[in-house]
Amino acid sequence: MHDSYLDNAATSFPKPESVYAAMDGFIRKIGASPARGSYPRAQESERCLVRGRSKLAQLLGIANPSRLIFTSNATDAINIALKGFLQTGDHVITTSAEHNAVLRPLWAMQTSRGITLSIVPTNALGEINLDALFQQVTPKTRLVCCTHASNVLGTLQPVDEIARRCRALGIACLVDGSQSVGVIPVDVEHLGVDFFAFTGHKSLLGPTGTGGLYVRDGIDIATFREGGSGSHSEDLNQPTVWPERHESGTPNMMGLVGLFAGVDFLLEKGVSTIQQHERELTHQLMEGFRRIPGITLYGPDVEKKVGITSIGFSAMSTAEMGQILGKKFGIMIRTGIHCAPLIHQQIGTVGQGTLRFSVGYSTTQNDITAAIQSVQDIASAVYRRQPAVSL
Ligand code: ALA
Repeated sequence: MHDSYLDNAATSFPKPESVYAAMDGFIRKIGASPARGSYPRAQESERCLVRGRSKLAQLLGIANPSRLIFTSNATDAINIALKGFLQTGDHVITTSAEHNAVLRPLWAMQTSRGITLSIVPTNALGEINLDALFQQVTPKTRLVCCTHASNVLGTLQPVDEIARRCRALGIACLVDGSQSVGVIPVDVEHLGVDFFAFTGHKSLLGPTGTGGLYVRDGIDIATFREGGSGSHSEDLNQPTVWPERHESGTPNMMGLVGLFAGVDFLLEKGVSTIQQHERELTHQLMEGFRRIPGITLYGPDVEKKVGITSIGFSAMSTAEMGQILGKKFGIMIRTGIHCAPLIHQQIGTVGQGTLRFSVGYSTTQNDITAAIQSVQDIASAVYRRQPAVSL
């Protein structure tokens, strides 16, 4: 059986060999806490952190690396931004394409912080209508939160235009780049956003437990946590200097070193090359699914999205179909709601959710052919009422 990993929107797998090697090398040979010792290994650890931050800033188009804070994941980054920025009485606009990483903190902050919230629905392709979004603006609107690419449909949002309109109105703009960094060229400062949150373990090719938040120069946020930073230790006040101000505690160095190796891989290979590869495979996948009777294809055409493809098959539950694909055919995908509950109201998949196939830098044509053939086999067997597809 050919194993096809098509769950890269959840986490990328496998990582480049250089990522494994860097993590192993760091924990064996350096293994010291950065900025907290004057012996050579501690200094080397600090150098790894400084070099890595600069490379990531380079990849993301961030001129001042100190405005890039390392976090545990995108959820952590979004929480730090929302809870450090929003105040009682603020109004926030977001969209139905968001992941619970955005929706749940905002929902909770209606009660815990006294914010108000407007959630603008997308169309059936997951696209935001900008006029509808900006019609929600009130004198209290302080922030617009928008995903860069939907984790259910892959739909890319016009975040540059959203940021431009926000700027003109004096409203801040937070973009969740979890599904865009590493798969499309992203220049955060060119986009003009105020906050950009991302994770390290998806298409940046690092391990889980890594991520980051960019905060535009000139914007201050309250600290989410205070503690040791390795600097200004005599002072009981939290340092004011970035990034230390927002990075208390020993960082996840082994994870970050893996993330930096992933960034090196992307800088060397070129994100545009990976984007082209993923587009070709996604196009092939969509064309294959289109030809299978009983399969519904959701989301926009390949040019308007990242390498995420959701489908539905009404003759079987998504959970059962996902299990059969995994166990009988070696096709690894994610099924269900994908932690993004509201988008399913727009595409008519509330309850069941979708079968989500997501390609990555190492996905091959064989993976795609195997996925199409497996879905075809299951659909044919179901329509012929063959028991062969049961687990
Ligand atoms: N947010 C990740 C996903 O969409 C885990 O699968």
